[in-house]
Amino acid sequence: QKPVDVDSLKALVRTVPDFPKPGILFYDITTLLKDKTGFAQLIDAMAAHYLSQKIDLVLGIEARGFIFGPALAYRLNAGFVPVRKPRKLPAPVARVTYDLEYGTDTLEIHLDAIQSGQKVVLVDDLLATGGTMEATVKLVKQLGGEIAGLGFAVELDFLKGRDRFPGYDVFSLLHYD
Ligand code: PRP
Repeated sequence: QKPVDVDSLKALVRTVPDFPKPGILFYDITTLLKDKTGFAQLIDAMAAHYLSQKIDLVLGIEARGFIFGPALAYRLNAGFVPVRKPRKLPAPVARVTYDLEYGTDTLEIHLDAIQSGQKVVLVDDLLATGGTMEATVKLVKQLGGEIAGLGFAVELDFLKGRDRFPGYDVFSLLHYD
């Protein structure tokens, strides 16, 4: 497999100033997703990071983790597990509530989604402060999953979200500072 040209992938990500609020520069991945070559290269490059291990499950975080997670799961010959916003999952769940800048958020996972000891890769589109992923790590540990890695398409390096995950394999393809 040819090494991916990260700069050409970054060129496909659109930057939108002042979204969702003034002063925030939003990295819009929809322009990369619609590019068939770019999307395939991104998924293949993420998958390459895990191909040497036997991964049982890829877990994706609602909503944008649902774009990358299933594609990665397919590529790794693994199952897919959704982590969802509250009251969406129909069967019994584990729940975690975590702090945001203002207020709190909650995520849920089906109690039977992961069997103890299964190797799981946790995926989201973006690593910012790391609060969302940190909460998800708690859910997976509660179910007894073995965390093989935390994978992201984009990482905002300046927010130092990865500092929340010492000892974990944190992998992001596109870095912004
Ligand atoms: C965004 C993004 C990640 C999270 C990253 O989700 O998709 O899930 O924020 O931020 P953090 O590292 O600071 O926790 P958002 O809250 O916009 O929800 P959405 O994906 O449902 O739109």
